Amino acid sequence: MILQSNNTLIKHLVNQLRNAQTNCGEFRTLVAQIAKLLCAEALENMPTVQTTIPTWQGDLKCHVIEENDLVFIPILRAGEPMLNGILELLPKSMGGFLAMKRDEETAVSKIYYQRFPNLNNKTVILLDPMVATGGSLIDAISVVKEQNPKEVICLNILGSTFGVDSVDATYPNIKMYIAQIDDELDENKYIRPGLGDAGDRAFNTL
Ligand code: PRP
Ligand code: URA
Repeated sequence: MILQSNNTLIKHLVNQLRNAQTNCGEFRTLVAQIAKLLCAEALENMPTVQTTIPTWQGDLKCHVIEENDLVFIPILRAGEPMLNGILELLPKSMGGFLAMKRDEETAVSKIYYQRFPNLNNKTVILLDPMVATGGSLIDAISVVKEQNPKEVICLNILGSTFGVDSVDATYPNIKMYIAQIDDELDENKYIRPGLGDAGDRAFNTL
């Protein structure tokens, strides 16, 4: 299920990412900020648990997010600043890592590192700013699904129509919260207008 954001602040920040004059430090900060806002959208209807907290006027019953239930997994490299941002909001949730690289010629991605906590019955939230052909995200979803999570959710910043439709056709029940969908993929399978290579822009390897 594709859930493209209507949030004006998110769109405003995405346009700053597109700006070629945004430097790598600013780029990482923007990615982290957008990830936090997308996370807020994704968690809007998340079940909460009741707890009691001591306040200045005595005990108060309230509802909180079960942070232990959430595992955030960035697709490296470009997803890494998204994890940093979200862990500022939810510091007791878990992190896992999945590193993938697209072949420059074929645009097919390969996993070169993975390390997850136990995903059984957890809510797994995959983080990748870019969905171009959709191949990386489809592979990432299939890898984490092997470990029986309760649910898999995706947070993405920019996608092509082709890429998000491919993910949705393969996994129609998975919610993809995405900041902006662009129309085109170019001959090198880059999103147009897009923002260029997100990993290179984040880590100054242009
Ligand atoms: C980018 C991006 C996605 C992938 C999207 O990563 O972060 O993971 O490409 O492309 P796809 O939808 O066609 O699979 P890349 O392979 O460039 O690695 P990097 O993050 O290390 O730069
Ligand atoms: N990866 C990126 O970082 N950008 C694209 O446009 C496509 C894949």
